[in-house]
Amino acid sequence: MSDIVEIVLAGERIKRLSDFAVENAVEKNKQKYSKEFASIDKSDLDRHIYEGGLKVWECSYDLSAHLEDIDLNGKKVLELGCGAALPSIVALKKGASKVVCQDYNESVIELVTKPNLKLNISDESKFEAIAKSWEDFSKECTEKFDYILTSETIYDAGDYASLHDSMKAALKDDGIIILAAKVVYFGKTGDYFRFLDFIEAESYFEVIKSKQIEASVQRIIAYLKRK
Ligand SMILES: C[S@@+](CC[C@H](N)C(=O)[O-])C[C@H]1O[C@@H](n2cnc3c(N)ncnc32)[C@H](O)[C@@H]1O
Repeated sequence: MSDIVEIVLAGERIKRLSDFAVENAVEKNKQKYSKEFASIDKSDLDRHIYEGGLKVWECSYDLSAHLEDIDLNGKKVLELGCGAALPSIVALKKGASKVVCQDYNESVIELVTKPNLKLNISDESKFEAIAKSWEDFSKECTEKFDYILTSETIYDAGDYASLHDSMKAALKDDGIIILAAKVVYFGKTGDYFRFLDFIEAESYFEVIKSKQIEASVQRIIAYLKRK
């Protein structure tokens, strides 16, 4: 089985570690990340222990493909909850001047995010990958970004405040957030409508446009900006 998968997203040829290669990396690093991997055989998510970033989620492909029509040349981009970082890689291939990738888990950053970035982008000064909770990120972030990209990050309503604070802290005044998500997450506390209610109650960002993606579980891409 191959360690690398090649795909075309937004007209760009992208390489990523195969699921097989990620499984091997997890196996080799079981001791090192024993806390983060404690429930990995039983569940895709373990709240505030392992948040799912080793796997590539569907909306990550939606968001990456969607970037085809956006001029990212010279733009600074932040990906919140990056996992495999496919949208970040597309953004860099499309001329973004710098991309910062954030994931909750150090294991994800070291075993998946950084290897995927390095497979595609030879100039390592163009990207940064950091393991941090949104709670910490929102307090410590000093950089501002033209675009914030985020995929499959609104399944837990208990994290909306820290996600929202991170967006607030990191977005330039005229910046745009592009959020990709499933409309519902079965068995989870968050969904798209609940996130919209949260945004409306905060009255800080507004959704300026959205696009539905028809599938057995409907998906959405939404653009948000400051009010
Ligand atoms: C389901 S994964 C999605 C990964 C990737 N964006 C994708 O679509 O393939 C959710 C991601 O959100 C991030 N996340 C979830 N809760 C978080 C929190 N409280 N603080 C920081 N990051 C969090 C994690 O980094 C995790 O990788």
